[in-house]
Amino acid sequence: MKGGLEVVRVVEHYDENGSCKTIRFDRNLDARPGQFVMMWIPGVDELPMSVSHIGERFGVTYKIVGNGTERLAALAVDDLMAVRGPYGNGFSVEKGRELVVAGGTGMACLAPLVEACTLAGNTVDLVLGARTKEELMMASRGESAGAEVHIVTDDGSEGAKGLATDAMEGLIGEKRFDRVYACGPEKMLTRVLDLALNNRLPLQASIERYMKCGIGLCDSCAIDGKHVCKDGPVFSGEDLSSFAEFGRTRLSRSGRRVTVE
Ligand SMILES: Cc1cc2nc3c(=O)[nH]c(=O)nc-3n(C[C@H](O)[C@H](O)[C@H](O)COP(=O)(O)OP(=O)(O)OC[C@H]3O[C@@H](n4cnc5c(N)ncnc54)[C@H](O)[C@@H]3O)c2cc1C
Ligand code: FES
Repeated sequence: MKGGLEVVRVVEHYDENGSCKTIRFDRNLDARPGQFVMMWIPGVDELPMSVSHIGERFGVTYKIVGNGTERLAALAVDDLMAVRGPYGNGFSVEKGRELVVAGGTGMACLAPLVEACTLAGNTVDLVLGARTKEELMMASRGESAGAEVHIVTDDGSEGAKGLATDAMEGLIGEKRFDRVYACGPEKMLTRVLDLALNNRLPLQASIERYMKCGIGLCDSCAIDGKHVCKDGPVFSGEDLSSFAEFGRTRLSRSGRRVTVE
């Protein structure tokens, strides 16, 4: 499917929690964990979405935040839409003891990675963070894959009370890890980067920037001279610490530089 726009049929569409849904299609998509697709929403735009289900009946998991995702949420089984990809570099899976840190919808991108890591025989500690228990998702998917799942909520409504990075710090103090993988809000990722650097742990983190073409042509996803769509969305800790814009600024839809919230 890579390159051209391909029409796909919806085969499943279900709630992950109160604000996130998973939509799956009648196509096999051979993607690496961490890669994304561009989903064409007629009359709205193309939206980049991480592939949350790889292989047969590939799928994406999304939060309803605006016009495009509202339109996506309205699709029913047997409806058609168009998709192109997979794009981006994705995570590289190596041998070892993995610490995976997911914040909010970041778990959509990390769920296939957790599965690939455990399938490769690696031990995985998965920190699953969300603001409230209603916003948690895919904990059972992590458990089924064989990961040790550590749930953290900002308000303590499920699991430990605190931030995903508090749990990450605690685990680094208790256990030995070979590397860290992360995806979530950029403010969380800046703290993940600090912790990884301070503890000399290699990091691979998936980041987001506004995307239009998805293939390195339009510059809308630029960060310090790199294209998130092509050079990323997964970057190493060394790359992220060399980016002056990481955790600070990003380009908006209109190309204005705005502060990262
Ligand atoms: C590589 C990548 C992977 C992503 N994976 C997921 C995922 O798995 N699940 C998920 O819920 N979201 C994911 N997103 C974010 C998702 O693309 C936006 O939430 C979605 O495009 C919002 O569109 P909208 O029309 O509903 O909202 P809008 O009202 O148009 O926008 C709401 C916010 O979404 C972001 N956004 C909107 N359009 C884009 C765009 N073209 N590129 C990047 N960000 C945009 C902006 O921050 C914007 O402020 C990913 C983004 C990137 C770059
Ligand atoms: S989205 Fe166009 S260069 Fe990355």
